Amino acid sequence: MDELEFANINKVIQKYFLGKLNDKKTPFNVTWFLKLHREMYEDVWEWAGKPRNTELNIGVSPYQIYSQLKQLEDNFWYWENKTGMNSLEKAVRLHHGLVKIHPFKNGNGRWARLITNIYLRKKDTPLIQWPEATLQVDSPFRKKYIQALQKADQGSYDDLIGLHLNLQAPTSPPHSKSDKTPPP
Ligand SMILES: Nc1ncnc2c1ncn2[C@@H]1O[C@H](COP(=O)(O)OP(=O)(O)OP(=O)(O)O)[C@@H](O)[C@H]1O
Ligand SMILES: [Mg+2]
Repeated sequence: MDELEFANINKVIQKYFLGKLNDKKTPFNVTWFLKLHREMYEDVWEWAGKPRNTELNIGVSPYQIYSQLKQLEDNFWYWENKTGMNSLEKAVRLHHGLVKIHPFKNGNGRWARLITNIYLRKKDTPLIQWPEATLQVDSPFRKKYIQALQKADQGSYDDLIGLHLNLQAPTSPPHSKSDKTPPP
């Protein structure tokens, strides 16, 4: 990741991780999914936020991108409103669905991981501390991550859920010791 990408993504982090989140700001629909990619990379790539129109050896065909994203939006709505699935599992399934579609030429992984964390923040669930530097190179961790995504392709989410659980940020109770005035 170069400096421009870092500055651009940093802006987006501030937008979604400082201040309140509501359904208007984060509607978790296709329009917002695409908008978020644009916000993350608009200073870097002129096609930011625009689905690719070329085939890759990963992801769906270009003509299927919009419909599959819409299907994922609908599934996500269903998990959210009609099932008792826990937030982490919903986040993991959304993450997997997004990278499987692979809507953009580049930046799909970071975009999907950010969507996951925005969702977790919205649900007051611990965030995932992705080792971004390690993920971007051919590391043993990346291998594990890709393997877990491929297992999820077969319908078994356990490895991908386990991987997320291992990376959960530690939580502190709302009024942890450090917030209190130290004893005299
Ligand atoms: N062999 C594979 N099988 C399944 N998914 C893969 C495979 N290779 C890559 N991916 C997915 O595609 C993402 C990489 O896509 P892309 O390069 O567009 O994203 P990025 O944000 O630039 O990179 P990265 O996720 O590596 O930081 C990976 O994070 C992973 O989710
Ligand atoms: Mg990339």
